[in-house]
Amino acid sequence: MMTKAEAEQRLAALRKELAYHARRYYVLDDPTISDGEYDTLFRELLDIETRFPDLISEDSPSQRVGGTPLAKFNPIKHHSPMLSLENAFSREEMVDFEVRLRRFLHLDTPLAYAAEPKLDGLAVELIYEDGLLKVGATRGDGWTGEDITANIKTIAAIPLRLTGKVPGILEVRGEVFMTTEGFKALNEERLRGGEPPFANPRNAAAGSLRQLNPQICAARPLDFFCYALGDTTASPCQTHLDSLDWLRELGFKRNPHTGLCRGIDEVSAHFNYLQEQRPRLPYEIDGMVVKVNDFDLQNRLGNKARSPRWAVAWKFAAIQATTKLVDIEFGVGRTGAVTPVAILEPVDVGGAIVRRATLHNEDEIKRKDLRLGDVVLVQRAGDVIPEIVKPIVERRQGTEGLIKMPTNCPRCAEPLQRPQGEVISRCPNPLCPAQLIRALIHYTSKAGLDIPGLGRRAMEQLYNEGLVNSIPDIYKLTAEKLAPLEGWGEKSAANVVQAILAGKQVPLSRFLAALGIRYVGEVNAQLLARNFSDLNALRRASREELLAVDGIGAQAADSLRLYFANQAVSEMLKQLSALGLKLTNQESASNLPLSNKSFVFTGSLTMSRSEAKARVKELGGKVVSTVSRKAIVVCGAKAGSKEKKARDLGLRILTEDEFTALLSGNLQLPDND
Ligand code: IVH
Repeated sequence: MMTKAEAEQRLAALRKELAYHARRYYVLDDPTISDGEYDTLFRELLDIETRFPDLISEDSPSQRVGGTPLAKFNPIKHHSPMLSLENAFSREEMVDFEVRLRRFLHLDTPLAYAAEPKLDGLAVELIYEDGLLKVGATRGDGWTGEDITANIKTIAAIPLRLTGKVPGILEVRGEVFMTTEGFKALNEERLRGGEPPFANPRNAAAGSLRQLNPQICAARPLDFFCYALGDTTASPCQTHLDSLDWLRELGFKRNPHTGLCRGIDEVSAHFNYLQEQRPRLPYEIDGMVVKVNDFDLQNRLGNKARSPRWAVAWKFAAIQATTKLVDIEFGVGRTGAVTPVAILEPVDVGGAIVRRATLHNEDEIKRKDLRLGDVVLVQRAGDVIPEIVKPIVERRQGTEGLIKMPTNCPRCAEPLQRPQGEVISRCPNPLCPAQLIRALIHYTSKAGLDIPGLGRRAMEQLYNEGLVNSIPDIYKLTAEKLAPLEGWGEKSAANVVQAILAGKQVPLSRFLAALGIRYVGEVNAQLLARNFSDLNALRRASREELLAVDGIGAQAADSLRLYFANQAVSEMLKQLSALGLKLTNQESASNLPLSNKSFVFTGSLTMSRSEAKARVKELGGKVVSTVSRKAIVVCGAKAGSKEKKARDLGLRILTEDEFTALLSGNLQLPDND
């Protein structure tokens, strides 16, 4: 047995080691140990923390996974305002910018600037006290933001503890963003779950940071680059670029495409460089931020009302081009959704060659009145996903053809269905090859069970080799079958089999999300897991019982009923259980501290009623309005008849203080209460 002192020592060592390797991986992109070795260390840490929960520290990497949901975000006042930037759209405007600066400073030599990509995400402020991350806040209106610390902590690129010599208080500002690839995967997942897709990575990042449940944010692929100090005197540096180097030493990521430019000619050259890089970057940028490099000069220049005088955002021009719509192809999605894709005559749109553009659904073709052979205006929306803005009607020749919708699945020829009121036609055959492979890819992907080694490429290979034709087949894989495959080998085969084995115990919510049932994405999966004790209870649930879950709508309820009514699904679930898949459900309301308890509030409480209600519900309890034999009565000031009735009935009565103690886990109620 490990003593507490030993545990404390080992935990400190593990935290340090894990933080070091996380930095090598996320910040420096240069890991020195394998993912497997990292996982082993991480598991050891979790194991010791489970045994000694009071030794869990704020900066433990286990604290990134997301804690309890919040009722709302608290406002945070920024020590110094988070300003916005003035925009420039041309080289001439940049020349004017320099002329203004020189006049203001009475200088006749060119200035030195830092030029960096303008990241298209969300500005945040991070406050470190003695090197420990204490607060993460949004920009808000520039003066007051929102406290999103719990969400910020889930972002791996943001250090929980800084390395090296740090000032007592350090405010770091930067951009939280989503990579283009992460954004695409998230949207695919949302579409499958019947949730509306995000319009662009920026909205996706913002939506993620605004989740009250940090576990949802933890599952989103967010990243971070630092770009400023809240107070420049906090650093030992004289210039902006030096301060970015310094921040990097402390553990932050800084953007690698940042340069020192002397004068506007060099600024302009860097702008061209960024414009060239733009299509190749794994995240979106919408321009370049130019900052006077010298902190003394920055201070002399100072701020205007909403923006600093010493910086400007040189924005990229909107990118559009015209080309010809040659054909329409119809793709089949993992849920059988048939989506039209425009095939275009290849055209250069701001440095990227565009050949295809999604048209989302059939109605969009009608709404835009597109015809085959049309000259169309194309744009890279959010600068990554190309889309057709409109046909150029003036350039029609009269020979353009109407676009015909398919009546049968382009992959398996099954007649398509289009439920009334829906915009999408679907292939109803769950064994359609288009649906099967995608279901398999989703199942093991990060959005599903997240089985390391079974990413998209591996799953495609296993499917093509005929080794995996169904979800249960995944659990039948052996090292002997995998090792001889191209690109595998003994070691990776053994690792994957090990990972599959380790993943046999899964939280119900994850499993539900992994199944890819329509309208059941991560959010609905969590709601369901919280409200049903196990999978069988969910499978037996009536439509009404499903609808009774706050947040589950008719579409999700119907989709679940349809899914579980399917014979092939029952067969699959039976097989999975025979293969040793175990579903756990810690989220279930019956495991929560206040489950089966009803509360009545009377009198006036300091906490608002809706707050009190939300807190009780979060912990699995119910709030009712009339005093009955089973209720627990919380009495505030000036409680009236309800208190009297409660006393008459001999019910449990709590003061507001006792109630808050109960919520925070400092008061226990006997079980028969
Ligand atoms: S510096 C006072 N640097 O642009 C200077 N901002 O319009 C404040 N942004 O809200 C910011 N990339 O979200 C700075 N490299 C960068 C940036 C950047 C993106 C955003 C930031 C801010 C907005 C200002």
